[in-house]
This record gives sequence, structure tokens and C-alpha cells, in this order.
Amino acid sequence: MTVVVLLAAGRGVRMRSERPKVLHEAAGRPLLDRVLDTAKAVAGDAGHVVVVVSKENAAIGEHLKAHPDVRVAIQDPPRGTGDAVRAAATEFGKARRVVVLSGDVPLLDARAVLGLLSALEADPKAAAAVLTARVTNPSGYGRIVRDRGGRFRKVVEEKDSSNNEKKIVEINTGTYAFDRAFLEKALPLLTSKNSQNEFYLTDVLALAAKAKRKVVTVEGDPAAALGVNSRADLARVDTILRGRNAEAAMAAGATLLRPETITLDDGVTLGTDVVVEPFVTLLGKTRVGTGSRIGQGTVVRDSIFGKSVTVRPYCVIESAVVGDGAVVGPFARLREGTDLAGGVHVGNFVETKKAKLHTGVKANHLTYLGDTEIGERTNVGAGVITCNYDGFAKNRTTIGRDVFVGSDVQFVAPVTIGDGAIIAAGTTVTDDVPENALALARAPQTNLQGGGAKYRERKAAGKK
Ligand code: UD1
Ligand code: MG
Repeated sequence: MTVVVLLAAGRGVRMRSERPKVLHEAAGRPLLDRVLDTAKAVAGDAGHVVVVVSKENAAIGEHLKAHPDVRVAIQDPPRGTGDAVRAAATEFGKARRVVVLSGDVPLLDARAVLGLLSALEADPKAAAAVLTARVTNPSGYGRIVRDRGGRFRKVVEEKDSSNNEKKIVEINTGTYAFDRAFLEKALPLLTSKNSQNEFYLTDVLALAAKAKRKVVTVEGDPAAALGVNSRADLARVDTILRGRNAEAAMAAGATLLRPETITLDDGVTLGTDVVVEPFVTLLGKTRVGTGSRIGQGTVVRDSIFGKSVTVRPYCVIESAVVGDGAVVGPFARLREGTDLAGGVHVGNFVETKKAKLHTGVKANHLTYLGDTEIGERTNVGAGVITCNYDGFAKNRTTIGRDVFVGSDVQFVAPVTIGDGAIIAAGTTVTDDVPENALALARAPQTNLQGGGAKYRERKAAGKK
């Protein structure tokens, strides 16, 4: 049985952030959640996961409430990775093996860690196994120091290393498997005699090597070893993950135009023959149905698109449902609670919020539709506004089917319009309109003969 200890109590100083490092997101998911996935897969049903957090990182404790299967150990104060594992020791339970993962190494998958665990188990003399990687730029990482025979000797941190040691390109990924009995004996022997005055977990490996207990090294994929210590590291991880998401979307049958400019969160799914134009950002749990096209520069979060939807360039869409064959944009804004049925057209500079538009509704120009339901085939002219807020409460506008709403109409909600009604252009609707009625409310027009010419003459003479 294996316990997996996930280290997340560090101060993350190099991030310069109020937020704990492991709660920063890459491709729309906190780093911690990625490592938790790996930790749970490695622990399996028999084992369990312990996350080490500090008092300062209370937000992590909150975050972990969504994971009741995970145990939490408090490291107070955080005094290094060795000290962190010491804080977790009370939660080892009956485990014979202890796997340690760093919360800031998010690209590592369970397969690599299980490989490390098997390497430990395969060698009865082994006290520990460490996952290493050969990288082109080792700076910032602990280096793997070997003796002349190539046997593992120790890990030396960058800050404690000699110039020669700095040249070593094999680094410690911060991923380990330990024989529990050995680990428990070694942890109390750690000292903080180093440049950072910390208790290094890596010194447990040196103790094993000195005690003539074997330390197995397994060389892993350098791309998976990336540790996040700074915002620049976070950006690198984010780019890698989004690149993978783009590859996966293309493999599943979507066309991405200039994929390097397209941002896809982890939870996004694209159907076959979807076309995504450059500089599109699809976030959260967005799903796009077969044959849809998302126009350049559009940003979508947590929305569901049916089949053959056309979103023209530069739309902003959040928590919306868009039905089959609907056409949206360019420059449309669909806000939370927007529900467009099949074949709806929402055009440029139209904003919708809590708006249910039934099949075939058209609202093509310069319109605000909020807290409203609009029946089948109704046409909404240019510049129409639902006045949903009276300064105190939000009120609803209900419009029937086959209604014709002329341009520049205001609906002062609450108001209900019957099926087949016609609302004349420029009308301010304050009362309900019955079925098939024509509503007209505007001041009668007067034409003063020659009035325009007289006005110009007055102005030219400098008069008011
Ligand atoms: C560590 C390793 C280094 C390795 C690198 C890989 C040590 C001493 N060094 O360095 O050899 O190359 O990871 O990414 O282990 N943490 C705690 N409590 C603490 C300190 C840290 O829980 O008191 C946690 C952090 O939250 C983090 C992880 O341990 O998730 C690693 O800590 P960090 O400070 O990032 O260590 P590195 O300098 O990256
Ligand atoms: Mg680190």
C-alpha cells in the first residue's frame, strides 16, 4: 500500500503573489488539481493522498474541501521540503511506500510516477527512488551528483552548488518513492545547514547513499519535469498545455486556423468539422457542435453551441446556449442566461442577458435584450431596448411569436406583447399590447415650410 504526499506548503516567494502558488492556473485549471489527479491515480483505491499545506496558505485548505478523500497535514511554519514530509508522517497510516510529489510540477503523469514506484519495488536493497531528467537549461533545479562509477551520491541545490556542479544537466524533478521504514529513520536526521536554512528532502537521498542503501534513479521526460517557481514558468506550462489541447482538438476533427494563436482551456470540446479562426479564446466547459465556425477574436466561456452555429468575429459569449444553425455577431455580446434556439440571428452590437429567443427570432442591429422571452419568428428592429431595470428591480419583457418590432422601440418592463402584434418604429411601450394589435406611441410630426433655410440664415447672421 502506498501513501502519496503532495507538497504544497511552500511560500512560493518567486511568484510574488497573494495567492498560493499551486492555486495559480494553467490552461484554466489550478496546478494543484493536476498534481492531485496524478496523486490519486498513483495511490489507487488501496492507498491515500496527504496534502501538506501551511497556515499561510489557508486558501488551499478551502480548495481541498472539494476533495474529501484527501487528507491534509499542516506544516507550521514551512521550513523546507524535508520538514514538509515530516509534517505528513502522522498521516502515513499503514503504507509501506511513500511517494512524494511537488505541487508545483504539474506536467508529470501517473505513468511516470508508477514507473518510479515499480523501480523502487523491483530492488529489495533500494531505500529510495528519484525521478530525474536531462534538461537543456538546468538552472534553478537541484542537480544529481554521481560518483565516478555513475552511482547516485546526492542532490545539490543550485544555491549550494559549486561551479562544476552547476554544469550538471541531470536534475531532480522533485518526485520520489521511499521505503517508509527508511524514510522515517532518516527524516529526524535532517539538518538545515545550507544556504537557505531549510530542511531539504533531497538530503534523505544523500543519507541513503551514505548508509550504503541504494538510491534508484529513473530518468524521465524532460518536458514533464518543468517546475513552476515563477510567472514565467507558469506561462511555459500554460503554453504547453494549451498546445496539447489544440493538438487534441485537431486530432478529433476540428480545423484550427493559426492554432498557435488559439486558446483552449482543458474542459473545452469541439465537434468534428468545427472551424476556429485565429485569436479565438474558448474557456471553461465550452462545447461546440459539429460544423460550427467561431470567428476571429471571439471569447467564449462556459457555453454550449449546437451544430452548424456561425459566430462571426469579435463576439464575447458567457454562460450561453446557442442552438443549431444560429448566427451570432460580429461584435455581439451574449451574457449569462442567454438561450438562443435554432436559426436565431443575433447581429452586431446586440447584447443579450437572461434572454430566451425562440426559433427564427432575428435581432440584427444595436439592441439590448435583457430579462426577456421572445416567440418564434419575431423580428426585432435596430436599436430596440428592453428597459428591464427601474432603478430598484429587474422586470421582464415577454414578446409573442410573429411580432414585428420596429426600430428604436423601448419596452418599459414589465410588459407583455401578444402574438402577431406590430410595434411601430420609435414607440415607447409602457402598456401591454394585445394579439395582432398595432402599437404606436410617438409625438406627431410637424413640418415648418422653409423652416430649415430660415434656421441657416439666422445662424449665418450670428443669431441664436
Ligand atoms: C525542489 C528541490 C529541487 C528540485 C525542484 C524540482 C528541494 C530542497 N529541492 O526545489 O532539488 O530540482 O524542487 O522542481 O527539495 N514545499 C513545502 N514546504 C516547504 C517548502 C516547499 O510544502 O517548506 C513545497 C512547495 O509548495 C512546492 C514543493 O514543496 O510544491 C517544492 O518547493 P520549492 O520551494 O518550489 O522547491 P524548489 O526550489 O523548486
Ligand atoms: Mg519548485
